[in-house]
Amino acid sequence: MACFLSATCPVYVAPAMDLEMFKDPSTNANLAGLKARGVKTIGPDSGELASGLEGQGRMTELEVIVRFLVRDLMQGSKLAGKRVLVTAGGTQEALDPVRYIGNRSSGKMGFAIAEEAAARGAQVELVTGPVVIATDRPAIIRTDVISAAEMAMACERFAPDCDIIVMAAAVADHTPKKPSDRKIKEKETSMLVELEPTVDILKGLGSRKAKHQRIVGFALETNDALANAQGKLERKNLDMIVLNSLSDPGAGFGHDTNKVTLLTPGTDPVQLPLMSKARTAAAILDHLEKLMPNA
Ligand code: CTP
Repeated sequence: MACFLSATCPVYVAPAMDLEMFKDPSTNANLAGLKARGVKTIGPDSGELASGLEGQGRMTELEVIVRFLVRDLMQGSKLAGKRVLVTAGGTQEALDPVRYIGNRSSGKMGFAIAEEAAARGAQVELVTGPVVIATDRPAIIRTDVISAAEMAMACERFAPDCDIIVMAAAVADHTPKKPSDRKIKEKETSMLVELEPTVDILKGLGSRKAKHQRIVGFALETNDALANAQGKLERKNLDMIVLNSLSDPGAGFGHDTNKVTLLTPGTDPVQLPLMSKARTAAAILDHLEKLMPNA
């Protein structure tokens, strides 16, 4: 108490207690009192407690506390206070009410970018295809979509108010022209499905890019990777393109790690090492911040 009263530095608390104690109104009132004095709270998380019970009251992991403190105290990020649109995951294009054409995107890279942007103080609109990942940061507002058309609609809605757009989603390039409204029967021995192109969301946003906006696309190439990614950077009027490697072990769909190359107009490509998707997200946003105007 004496230390707290004499502290002139920022003070943070990371509460840890049993679940009933945390739920008690006096705890809430005390936390509100601390908040009113400018003290920030980290956690508590839900999980196994010292009493053996499960619930909210578990102290946030030290690693998470340290990351929070670094970000919070850093405050130098150009993303602080910005609005960021991030897309994640793959889209699903219906063949019939049961089946769809999809891809192997897990959404991990897009979610890592959304988390990192939020940690740097941005307000994030996260538009995601069907994934099994959760996020509980208040600064991330999540919109779930299924098809490329739904993702396009959500992006059109959010993009005009955003300063940064990061299209990490693996959007289907084609969709069945006439999805069946009934389940297609097994006895069909062979069938032809006519596909039509989806809207290129990124190209549309790039063509209408406002002066204050910075737009980042992703590319996944199996051949002539750098030249193809460079072409997309120009064709879609982007400020950066993140080229994913498919050939390195541990990189790409589903992994917790990734290996990417960053391309920006007029500069040499920057190849990043194989790292966790969280660190890759941080490196992408560090690079992006260099492209943003000074406040
Ligand atoms: N993208 C999009 N809308 C689509 C398809 C893709 O916004 N309908 C975005 C992706 O989110 C990604 C980037 O475009 O950021 C690259 O997608 P890709 O399919 O590789 O680009 P294409 O121009 O369609 O090139 P390709 O001929 O290789 O398919």
